[in-house]
Amino acid sequence: MILVFALAACSSKDTSGSGEKSKGKKDKVEIFSWWTGAGEEDGLKALLALFKEKHPDVAVENAAVAGGAGTNAKAVLASRMQGNDPPSTFQVHGGAELNEGWVAAGKMEPINDLYDKEGWNDKFPKSLIDMVSKDGNIYSVPVNIHRGNVLWFNKKVFDDNGLQVPKTFDEFFQVADKLQAKGITPLALGDKEPWTATQVFETILVAKLGVDGYNKLWTGELPFDDAKVKESAETFKKMLGYINKDHSSRNWQDASQLVADGKAAMNIMGDWAKGYFVNDLKLKLNEDFGFTTTPDSAGIFTVITDTFGLPKGVKNVDDVKTFLAVLGSVEGQDAFNPLKGSIPARVDADTSKYDDYGKATIEDFKTAQLAPSLAHGSAAAEGFVTKANQAVNIFVTQLDVDGLINSLKSAQAELKK
Ligand code: GAL
Repeated sequence: MILVFALAACSSKDTSGSGEKSKGKKDKVEIFSWWTGAGEEDGLKALLALFKEKHPDVAVENAAVAGGAGTNAKAVLASRMQGNDPPSTFQVHGGAELNEGWVAAGKMEPINDLYDKEGWNDKFPKSLIDMVSKDGNIYSVPVNIHRGNVLWFNKKVFDDNGLQVPKTFDEFFQVADKLQAKGITPLALGDKEPWTATQVFETILVAKLGVDGYNKLWTGELPFDDAKVKESAETFKKMLGYINKDHSSRNWQDASQLVADGKAAMNIMGDWAKGYFVNDLKLKLNEDFGFTTTPDSAGIFTVITDTFGLPKGVKNVDDVKTFLAVLGSVEGQDAFNPLKGSIPARVDADTSKYDDYGKATIEDFKTAQLAPSLAHGSAAAEGFVTKANQAVNIFVTQLDVDGLINSLKSAQAELKK
């Protein structure tokens, strides 16, 4: 009950819309996402402003539901889709979340025609188009590419203590011991929303298993009781020995804040954290904070792509496509991504618009081995992600390696449904 009220309160959906429609006014393009509040909404607002400038005749409604990684939005979306009341377009991760979720359920329209019309087929990397395609049809437009395996650090803390930023797990634990001895929390975690801990775990899995092994987990070719998965869980357990005590009452922004304040030295988070550091906390990249890949994951790129498609049953199809055309344009991507912290999904974006992190990440993406994120729904279907989040959430307090492995094993039935 409380959850229902909370979700209703979070949603900014304007319920007066139906009255307007009956007077014969044009339907608004309702854009559904979880980008609201600090570190989340700046990019979307810039994109909406650009759209308004280009298409003042098309009304847009920002229907964002707060909660990192779609913690609340996904539940609201599911009930609306089930009730045949889809938003005009909604945020969905490329990969399993889109293809095994909404496309497999028959809820999305193919948009190959839009790709043809806009000449997009060679403007997005093939790897990304594959993530938004099923059985030869394309179902959404990527607005960005976020990197998940990033370790952020407070530069002053490292400099003042004469420490080198860790590149490997061995180095991480050496540095963590030194920081702990000085009374500084080595690793900030905010797992009030459990996905943040799952994201840390996935960076360990991909580092220990390699991209091929990691991918085999999601196809069932590699069992969750594989020795490397156990080793990953052991490493995860060891890392959790270095986190802030109040982790379960913090969200991702609150954990980033600990690093910003120098109360913690490091944080593992997707590069939306950079948007938060720079735009909200006004920190300077490479002066106040720095970045590197998570331990032993150089050359690997955990991909999180936010995309928008066309749900079946939407009436104002042309207006929605007009919005998607702006979202997929160079201009749209370059308005959105420098603020969001992500890199553009398009290969022909204007790299001069991006900071040193963005420029380096654009280059890395071209050569890195790509791994879909589990925590953000690209690697596995929603049913599995939910169970994995629950298992990881229990693990963070109980630290029971066998318990985690067993839970993941029994969740395996949820894969490829
Ligand atoms: C991800 C999403 C990002 C960012 C993050 C934190 O799932 O792809 O764009 O919003 O959650 O909420």
